[in-house]
Amino acid sequence: MRDREPAQRVNAVAPAWKQRGFSIEAMRDLARAALPRPVFDYADGGAEDERALRRNETAFGEIELLPRPLNGAAERDLSVTLFGQKLKMPLIVGPTGLSGLFWPDGESCAARAATAAGIPYCLSHASVCTIEDLAARGPAPRWMQVFIYKDRGFTRELAERAQAAGYGALVLTTDNQLLGHRERDLRNGFTIPPSFGPAGLAGMALKAEWLWRMRKELSRVTFGNYVRPGENPDMKTLAARMGALLDPAMAWSDVDELRRVWTGPLILKGVLHPAEARAALDHGVDGLVVSNHGGRQVDAAPATIDALPAVAEAVAGRMPVLLDGGVRRGADVVKALALGATACLLGRPTLWGLATAGEAGVAHVLDIYRREIDRVMGLCGLARIADITGDVVFPRVNTATRIR
Ligand SMILES: Cc1cc2nc3c(=O)[nH]c(=O)nc-3n(C[C@H](O)[C@H](O)[C@H](O)COP(=O)(O)O)c2cc1C
Repeated sequence: MRDREPAQRVNAVAPAWKQRGFSIEAMRDLARAALPRPVFDYADGGAEDERALRRNETAFGEIELLPRPLNGAAERDLSVTLFGQKLKMPLIVGPTGLSGLFWPDGESCAARAATAAGIPYCLSHASVCTIEDLAARGPAPRWMQVFIYKDRGFTRELAERAQAAGYGALVLTTDNQLLGHRERDLRNGFTIPPSFGPAGLAGMALKAEWLWRMRKELSRVTFGNYVRPGENPDMKTLAARMGALLDPAMAWSDVDELRRVWTGPLILKGVLHPAEARAALDHGVDGLVVSNHGGRQVDAAPATIDALPAVAEAVAGRMPVLLDGGVRRGADVVKALALGATACLLGRPTLWGLATAGEAGVAHVLDIYRREIDRVMGLCGLARIADITGDVVFPRVNTATRIR
């Protein structure tokens, strides 16, 4: 017992799910066991042949780190400043629609866990709760994600609502104006709104805990932000409204319009091309997320970690570049930072945490990342986030322009 590491001692008294959920992959296994297949696949799946989904993860695996442990530090400082705010670690809980399908009040649970971990929570346009409901619970910092709609007035309305409700940043997602072909959802008969066919219902019987927990929630699962005051439409109407609203003919003039409406940091999510990154600078954008929507849209898209260096170079330190897609280890975060990112967003891992144990599950997921980032930094001789440069990547690269 004496030579046990502190983390192992804690695990000895932790609940069974925490002991079994020792990594993000292990949390995914727990989520798969807890969720009905169509719900698990809705989150886990990607577009078409799921090549981009796999590529995101395997590309991280191909990057090596070059430790320099004699730069030792008794403690590592994981904090980073983003848009003038200090975060306890370089992570953001990214937007995931219908989080409330994974655990009752899923958005609030995840947002509380993010706040406790000292990082921002980004609410999805397709949240079950509304912009105002989440704000009333007070998690901070909180960001809001929107799209460009055919009814430009609705985009403006969501931005204005977010501003009035004290959201600190607006994320404009640009890679979802046409819905990706998610073939697992077709195979499972999963639709938005969720309606489960006979096979799905049979599968659900094996997921008694989820079903019991969600028994009152399921009828309330909706796209909260799309409900107009005074109306009570069913999910089908709302989903149709949402789908019909997305406008593939969006342009930079729409970014300009949002820039006029939104006074805080404006972030473009879904940037892969360096020319688009450069143009974003000219249009007053404050930050980028290098993202392929977790492999859920263009299946032929590159892995985000492969697209990152060119985007970071194009921006040349003039605004923070964030990244998401396939970040499953603390080492992946260190790799992204070494290649030019300021922080990473998490997509599916948050949902694995929610599905396993609600707020405590998300807190545990964030703690796994914190411990892994800390361990990798310690073993590589990196005391502070600013020490993570291209020098730690093997073979070494030059990323002198990153904003830290
Ligand atoms: C179930 C699910 C729902 C998502 N919903 C949204 C959304 O509403 N808005 C958005 O910008 N991105 C959405 N995303 C994409 C994530 O924000 C993020 O880009 C992606 O999941 C990152 O990849 P990862 O899951 O590998 O971490 C969603 C992703 C998943 C898995």
